[in-house]
Amino acid sequence: VSTIYDGKTHVAEPTTAVWTLGKPMRPEFSLEPGTDFLNHGSFGAPPRAVLEAAGRWRNRLEANPDVFFREVLPGALREAASALARFVGARPQDLVFVDNATAGMNAVLRSLSFSPGDEILASSHVYGAVRQAIRHVCERSGAKFVVAELALPVADAEALVSSLAERMSERTRLLVLDHIASPTGLVFPVAQLARLARARGARVLVDGAHAPGQIALDLPALGVDWYVGNCHKWLFAPRPCGFLWAHESAQDGLHPLAISHDYGRGFGPEFDWTGTRDPAAWLAVVDAIRFLEALGADRVRAHGHELAVASATKIARAWDSVLDGPAALHGSMMAIRLPGRLCRGLAADRGGARELMSVLIAEQRIVVAVMPIGNALWARISASVYNQPADYDRLASL
Ligand SMILES: Cc1ncc(COP(=O)(O)O)c(C=O)c1O
Repeated sequence: VSTIYDGKTHVAEPTTAVWTLGKPMRPEFSLEPGTDFLNHGSFGAPPRAVLEAAGRWRNRLEANPDVFFREVLPGALREAASALARFVGARPQDLVFVDNATAGMNAVLRSLSFSPGDEILASSHVYGAVRQAIRHVCERSGAKFVVAELALPVADAEALVSSLAERMSERTRLLVLDHIASPTGLVFPVAQLARLARARGARVLVDGAHAPGQIALDLPALGVDWYVGNCHKWLFAPRPCGFLWAHESAQDGLHPLAISHDYGRGFGPEFDWTGTRDPAAWLAVVDAIRFLEALGADRVRAHGHELAVASATKIARAWDSVLDGPAALHGSMMAIRLPGRLCRGLAADRGGARELMSVLIAEQRIVVAVMPIGNALWARISASVYNQPADYDRLASL
């Protein structure tokens, strides 16, 4: 076994080189030339070096699948989980891999029991797939889905807190929070909201799909029960690479979507094997963390934040439009309301948003997320390590 896996050979040596963020980073990624990529947030973009690391894991697997799955994977997976746990301030035994944030959120929601009269509370900015999962759980249990409306632009953090706090009741059993809301990039004050919810006896499930890599994380300090994250967005892991963290008091009765051999043997074992899958993306998370740390995680976050805020401000001025909220409530994403003249009469719904995205890609080669929020369409921009100020000029000039 040691000749196949020695626990080290897959990891690139740490580099002392100082990388210049922005345009010089673009060749490190496979992104096609000539397109403005302003939507790192939706699917991420793994660097070539991290994809190569995943490829090396696949080669090792294919050299002897039996040895790999039976003898190599269990240890390698726990080692990768430990590296990720360190990155998010957690204990390794409280963290497991899942395919993606959708799977992690579903695993928690579908492991819990609700009764008629119970309430599950979420913001109107909750991610669409998670909204459907909550609806499903409510339809099966008779629980009520309470949606806290959040109007844009948001004035300050207090507006985020009060929108949800006003809808908490003694019947709230579960608060589902986005750490970074998908439509806008607004960062919710999770610890403060979790304190309010728990004081009322509610449990707290956080969807942190956009958080790892984009903002600094110390999961245990948030005071929540469960935290789901994606590593294939802002942590530069290959896809799909999600994780689920559960407080030690919130692991009993928690099961993966696919029940397998280790059912009943505890949180880690149950999630570590849910049938035969390609584990390369999870194992390469070690290299993704290395990549981010070689660039400097704080430096990357500062680059993303400053670039997102400056670019969104520039675009809002050019469009004579508004931002979704103040700069201080954002990491590396921000949203600008699209002026009517750019919306081509499209409906402010999911279909209209998708169509406008397609038009912008086909006609302008601009990839930017278009979001239906309230009765308007908004453009959400992302700022990743390969983005530079000029990337946003063509969008601003439309
Ligand atoms: C807040 C939020 N939750 C969940 C997801 C779903 O992520 P995935 O498709 O990787 O499951 C996304 C994707 O953008 C998201 O923004």
